[in-house]
Amino acid sequence: MRPKAVITGATKGIGRAVAFKLVQEGYDLAVCSRNQQDLEDLKQELHRLNPVSEVWIRTCDVSKPEQVKAWCGELSAHWSKLEILVNNAGLFYPGSVLTEPDEALPHQLGVNLYSAYHFTRSLIPLIRRNASGHIFNLCSIASKTAYGNGGAYTISKFAVYGFSQCLREELKPTDIKVTAVLPGATWSDSWKDSGHDPEEMIRPEDIAELIWTCSRLSKVAVVEELVVRPQGGDL
Ligand SMILES: NC(=O)c1ccc[n+]([C@@H]2O[C@H](COP(=O)([O-])OP(=O)(O)OC[C@H]3O[C@@H](n4cnc5c(N)ncnc54)[C@H](OP(=O)(O)O)[C@@H]3O)[C@@H](O)[C@H]2O)c1
Repeated sequence: MRPKAVITGATKGIGRAVAFKLVQEGYDLAVCSRNQQDLEDLKQELHRLNPVSEVWIRTCDVSKPEQVKAWCGELSAHWSKLEILVNNAGLFYPGSVLTEPDEALPHQLGVNLYSAYHFTRSLIPLIRRNASGHIFNLCSIASKTAYGNGGAYTISKFAVYGFSQCLREELKPTDIKVTAVLPGATWSDSWKDSGHDPEEMIRPEDIAELIWTCSRLSKVAVVEELVVRPQGGDL
């Protein structure tokens, strides 16, 4: 049976690059985003790359725990195991703690933190059925160092990093690995209007390659943290 992976927010940027990498390596995928058409387009592109892999698509607003639980319930009825979970979906709104709107924090916590929390809790039984597995949580260099105009985003990414560390502690006695991925500026749609040169940035394919490599280590080795920066430093 082919290995199986879940990627949240797989239609763009890093999630999309991870989807291409895993399908190229023969994985079946279950992926979500909020846009049905984007998911169908992605499925077609992945099918062209590897016609054998299954690509299971369902829309889900990952900031809504009831939608996440329904999505995971449907997948758990369809699949009998899961090897890799990539908690990738996320969004960034600039703002500062003292002036951003009240909704900025709950909204970014919803998409960036609660999504990872509820996907993980809902899918852990499926991973346990496989006896071993690997959970990747997309944090950020903003998970370790606050920066100007980072406000609620930075708070949410510190929280995802904290979540990832708790999970790693809890799962040490098992064969389920946990890796916190902390990228610096990585070219994606979210940078399109920034005026920055894509050539100065990490490529989403770099992060996908690293996730793949981490997932291939021997049973006893885990990369707990993956800090990746543009060669020229932070933007
Ligand atoms: N790019 C960077 O420089 C960078 C640096 C550090 C960390 N990260 C982290 O890496 C992850 C991916 O970043 P990216 O730049 O690749 O993102 P991106 O290009 O903006 O893509 C985000 C993906 O998540 C989906 N998504 C967003 N909100 C969602 C929601 N509420 N429900 C379901 N899906 C949702 C988007 O699809 P829809 O909008 O259609 O739903 C899209 O597929 C994020 O967690 C981000 O914080 C990125």
